[in-house]
Amino acid sequence: MMKTVGVVGSGTMGGGIAHQAAISGFTVILRDVDQRFLDNALARMQKLMDRQIAKGKMTEEQKSDIIQRITFTTSLEDMSDCEFVVEAIIEDLEAKKEVFRQLDEILVPEAIIASNTSSMSITDIASATKRPHLVAGMHFFNPPQVMKLVEVVRGYQTSDETVKELKKLSIDLDKEPIEVKKDTPGFIVNRIMIPQFIEAIRLVEEGVATPEDIDKAVTLGLNYPMGPFALQDYAGVDIGLHVMDYFYEEFKDARFAAPITLKNLVRAGRVGKKVGAGWYDYNNK
Ligand code: NAI
Repeated sequence: MMKTVGVVGSGTMGGGIAHQAAISGFTVILRDVDQRFLDNALARMQKLMDRQIAKGKMTEEQKSDIIQRITFTTSLEDMSDCEFVVEAIIEDLEAKKEVFRQLDEILVPEAIIASNTSSMSITDIASATKRPHLVAGMHFFNPPQVMKLVEVVRGYQTSDETVKELKKLSIDLDKEPIEVKKDTPGFIVNRIMIPQFIEAIRLVEEGVATPEDIDKAVTLGLNYPMGPFALQDYAGVDIGLHVMDYFYEEFKDARFAAPITLKNLVRAGRVGKKVGAGWYDYNNK
């Protein structure tokens, strides 16, 4: 079993992945560009564990052991001994490639580097290194401490051995891996979810039903925890639109064309719960 895990980026996902790795017994090196992001990540971990302690699910001692396993750093060089590093920085291709370029120089030649990207091409990211066979996608879901799924994604040159190692690592992190055999936009979950959003919006545009009733239909009829409109508001309506535009651009397929109603909602600034309004209004709730 790999013992030390490097995590680059300590935001929502990187902080959560680092936390999960420490919970699972790994030693962790967590890197961000500025100390205040690392402080925030630590505060989020502590808050979560304090809730666990209050519920009697964790002890103070376990909490301090978990925190002690994590090194918070602004220096990428601190990862030089890691056999595995996962990148979870902002969703920007050039920034990601730069991190991969640097890691390729710092890490031992046999180290695996994974990206938590939701949408970028793993093949493209891997091209920044001289070890594309050791690069893959490792797509966690938010929050990584809770959500069980990890999509292990093959880039064009990812080796079978790398995929095998990452599946094993996912299990060691108490997650359930699935293999995405080809580097394709949206992998599996988003590829299924986005057309469901589009179809739900089309039903509204056709006057077939209201967003409320469609959400009710999906939660009660398909047993999903959230309907497509509530989920878009929760995740960010603008992010859904961004992914549709990206799919449309990559596949050149009208199936993925963003509905006008959605574009107008975003143009009107109703981008979801984060601003108090999306498909629904949240100001008074
Ligand atoms: P975030 O904005 O919360 O965190 C990004 C962090 O990366 C920030 O703390 C930033 O300071 C840091 N950063 C930027 N450049 C860096 C560098 N060169 N080295 C080290 N740290 C750097 O973003 P979030 O939501 O955690 O997303 C991270 C990645 O995970 C993105 O690729 C995103 O697409 C993906 N993702 C996000 C999910 C979500 O629900 N938020 C779910 C699954 C994947």
